[in-house]
Amino acid sequence: MMLKRLRCLIVNAALSVQIAAYMTPEGNVVIPGASSYNGLGLVPQMGWDNWNSFGCNVNESLLLQTAKAMADYGLRDLGYNYVVLDDCWSQGRNSSGYLVENPIKFPNGMKHVADQIHALGMKFGMYSSAGILTCGRYPGSLGYEQKDADVFASWGVDYLKYDNCFNMGQSGTPKISFDRYNVMSQALNKTGRPIWYSMCNWGDDNPFDWAYSIANSYRMSGDIYDSFNRPDSRCPCDEAIGCQWPGFHCSVMNILNKMAAIQARTMSGGFADMDMLEVGNGGQDDNEYVTHFSLWALMSSPLLIGTNVLTLTPANLAIYSNPAVIALNQDPSAGGGIRKWRYSVEDKDEFGQGEISLWTRQMQNGDTVIALINGGNSTRTMNATAKDIFLDQATAGTFMPAAELKETWDVYDLWANRLSTTEAAALINGTAPTITSASNSTTRYNATAMSFEKGLQNNATALFGTRVGTLAPSGTWTAQIPRHSTGLYRLRKAGSGLRKRDEL
Ligand SMILES: *[C@@H]1O[C@H](CO)[C@@H](O)[C@H](O)[C@H]1NC(C)=O
Ligand SMILES: *[C@@H]1O[C@H](CO)[C@@H](O)[C@H](O)[C@H]1NC(C)=O
Ligand SMILES: *[C@@H]1O[C@H](CO)[C@@H](O)[C@H](O)[C@H]1NC(C)=O
Ligand SMILES: *[C@@H]1O[C@H](CO)[C@@H](O)[C@H](O)[C@H]1NC(C)=O
Ligand SMILES: *[C@@H]1O[C@H](CO)[C@@H](O)[C@H](O)[C@H]1NC(C)=O
Ligand SMILES: *[C@@H]1O[C@H](CO)[C@@H](O)[C@H](O)[C@H]1NC(C)=O
Ligand SMILES: *[C@@H]1O[C@H](CO)[C@@H](O)[C@H](O)[C@H]1NC(C)=O
Ligand SMILES: *[C@@H]1O[C@H](CO)[C@@H](O)[C@H](O)[C@H]1NC(C)=O
Ligand SMILES: *[C@@H]1O[C@H](CO)[C@@H](O)[C@H](O)[C@H]1NC(C)=O
Repeated sequence: MMLKRLRCLIVNAALSVQIAAYMTPEGNVVIPGASSYNGLGLVPQMGWDNWNSFGCNVNESLLLQTAKAMADYGLRDLGYNYVVLDDCWSQGRNSSGYLVENPIKFPNGMKHVADQIHALGMKFGMYSSAGILTCGRYPGSLGYEQKDADVFASWGVDYLKYDNCFNMGQSGTPKISFDRYNVMSQALNKTGRPIWYSMCNWGDDNPFDWAYSIANSYRMSGDIYDSFNRPDSRCPCDEAIGCQWPGFHCSVMNILNKMAAIQARTMSGGFADMDMLEVGNGGQDDNEYVTHFSLWALMSSPLLIGTNVLTLTPANLAIYSNPAVIALNQDPSAGGGIRKWRYSVEDKDEFGQGEISLWTRQMQNGDTVIALINGGNSTRTMNATAKDIFLDQATAGTFMPAAELKETWDVYDLWANRLSTTEAAALINGTAPTITSASNSTTRYNATAMSFEKGLQNNATALFGTRVGTLAPSGTWTAQIPRHSTGLYRLRKAGSGLRKRDEL
């Protein structure tokens, strides 16, 4: 796996110019920039995008009020940095061919919006399409890439979501799509401004094969909708591979299961984007939203809040604000979880759906995370055996039982310290205490004060949940998981720093 990945990165690096590899005295080969084509996106982007909750009803005050609320509620300091304006912002091109904002929606111009967002310590995202029109039928960027990149850069834009509508038939093979999306990649690069490039091409033409060399993230499926698992004819594919029609109205479980086959392709610098979060929009219950958020974090998908922050309930704020779960997403390992098994179960729900699965992921610090998903219609006892959890270590070519099977593992429940409704309400009404790097809170974390990478190194309390038991050598972790819920656990070698601290 590591060798394969290294080979991929060398090929990747060869695509961009002026990169000289060198060797350290210890013999490690260092390829500058190899982990990201433009230096951005070593971990997935976090932020807010207006589309899922507001569609085309955008304006300056919506963006600025939302940005301020994100800062006030502690979301900015949990890493939700990008405020992304989606479609329907423009009024067309001026006589010189440059895009102009709608003056009623944006009376002070786009640069003003960017300046205000920057003043809050946040970043500003913009939207266009790699077609002659955007999906909302405003002018698109196809044929105008450099002019549009230049105008975005002049406004102070930090991020471009780049859609796939009205592409004039320029799709159908990876090469055609690559070339079309690469024009904007080059145009953004030419501006000299670091701009996160978020391809929104719905998984068309296998972007998981090629997008990481020209973009920081790429959509791997048709659009999400606010349903846990309702099948919808407009989202006809169950797999990302070979999907001829990505469509839209894809459920949380549909998108998650599409990730299973392609998880190895998500990596530092170029993340598979499972689409914006629906938490708070009303179509799922609390357990389902917890599952949605947990798995998007585990799979290193971008975490873009997709609801109205100004009317966020304490319960939903508590989901978006779980630092122990966000820490999975922002882990420097920057990888995707592996689906170890998936079974159909008898207790189907109202849509005739019923499945259970086990997902695992290795983290940078040697911990392993497991997610037991109960997609059945009733509470059940679920089992994760050490053999399944550490399957890949056993099949890595050594033909020996995995060394991990000899260890005892402390098991930490990553949802045990979810903010209480009272604590979340205090964040919303502005009476919650400030969090610093020395706070040692179990429920809250400030990534502005200390990055997730640093906090993970320092075993920051809020990033590790609560120890709820141990997994014996070659043992089985067993948990009661309610209907449409997920048990999310971090496994740490027993006797590690955290355990000692707990026992003090
Ligand atoms: C801005 O947009 C929001 C959300 O769609 C809307 O509620 C508000 O009335 C709009 N404000 C202005 C000044 O148009
Ligand atoms: C068109 O917009 C660009 C970028 O904002 C600006 O520099 C240029 O002066 C405008 N041209 C006209 C004719 O208004
Ligand atoms: C442009 O691309 C080069 C080569 O990949 C990279 O080193 C540089 O950081 C990029 N610049 C911007 C502004 O994206
Ligand atoms: C599934 O569970 C829900 C909630 O417990 C219940 O209302 C519903 O009748 C069940 N559906 C089926 C098909 O059994
Ligand atoms: C987990 O193991 C317990 C005890 O062996 C068993 O009763 C239960 O059915 C198992 N759960 C599943 C989902 O297989
Ligand atoms: C803020 O919310 C907390 C928690 O619900 C509550 O105890 C407190 O009275 C509220 N304060 C104000 C000023 O509304
Ligand atoms: C996080 O820390 C920064 C200073 O590093 C501080 O300005 C900010 O208010 C803190 N945020 C919260 C939510 O406590
Ligand atoms: C964090 O915990 C690990 C064990 O999991 C330990 O090796 C390391 O020394 C600890 N780091 C700090 C800074 O306490
Ligand atoms: C931090 O909090 C944890 C859990 O509440 C506690 O076990 C630990 O002793 C605390 N550490 C410090 C340095 O206060």
